[in-house]
Amino acid sequence: MIGVIGGSGVYSLDGMRVDASEQCATPYGPPSGPLLRGELSGAPLLFLARHGPQHHLPPHQVNYRANIWALRECGATALVTIAAVGGIRGDCRPSALVLPDQILDYTWGREHTFFAGDGQAVVHVDFTEPYDAEMRDALARAAADNKLTVVTGGAYAAMQGPRFESAAEIVRLERDGAAVVGMTAMPEASLARELGLRLAAVNIVVNPAAGKGDGGVSMDEIHRRLADGAERVNRLLARALPALWTLAQSREPLPAPVPQNG
Ligand code: HPA
Repeated sequence: MIGVIGGSGVYSLDGMRVDASEQCATPYGPPSGPLLRGELSGAPLLFLARHGPQHHLPPHQVNYRANIWALRECGATALVTIAAVGGIRGDCRPSALVLPDQILDYTWGREHTFFAGDGQAVVHVDFTEPYDAEMRDALARAAADNKLTVVTGGAYAAMQGPRFESAAEIVRLERDGAAVVGMTAMPEASLARELGLRLAAVNIVVNPAAGKGDGGVSMDEIHRRLADGAERVNRLLARALPALWTLAQSREPLPAPVPQNG
């Protein structure tokens, strides 16, 4: 089953038939809210709002471990994560939808691994390709079929937040190779990998990153772009879900992480 994590502005999915709303307990505490179980365009689906149904959780307080654990426990084998971002690279202009292919992690102090317990085996997961290329291709095809423009590929810089960046920080991120900047992709993506869940992301560019536009980052602009971007993401997912589900069914599970001796 595909699990969808909705970000800012995406607290449900248009056209989703909801059959159940499940409160899940996990060893890491409660997830951000109930998991909605149902169907979209004929494909079974779980949906979770990352910041909670009423957006009460800022990025650094999201319980990423509980969210990913709950989605896997409830049956997700692959995830699509939706997130608002600032645009850094020239083609990631406000309103663009971006399907990132890489991650730069600048977050700190977040519970970022399932393998941190005392006496637990040491585990290192491969993270060379944080996002799944076949899922990204399926999303890109669904966008083209639906006459939606997407930018395919680009590195997402995950910042701690909740403040936005300084202009100098964005210059640094650009030098580091970032195309977009957000606050939530990490540790979400590496936790998904630790549990063997394939992952694709859809980013909605809601503002020029700090120093890239005229003046500062404007919340008014962000809210305007979110409303329109969420509508297009909903259309994209309604189109892509059947293909993502077919793909998920046709693939072997990712290999489980291998404990090391030293
Ligand atoms: N920076 C970080 N996170 C964001 C931004 C930004 O400019 N816009 C939306 N989320």
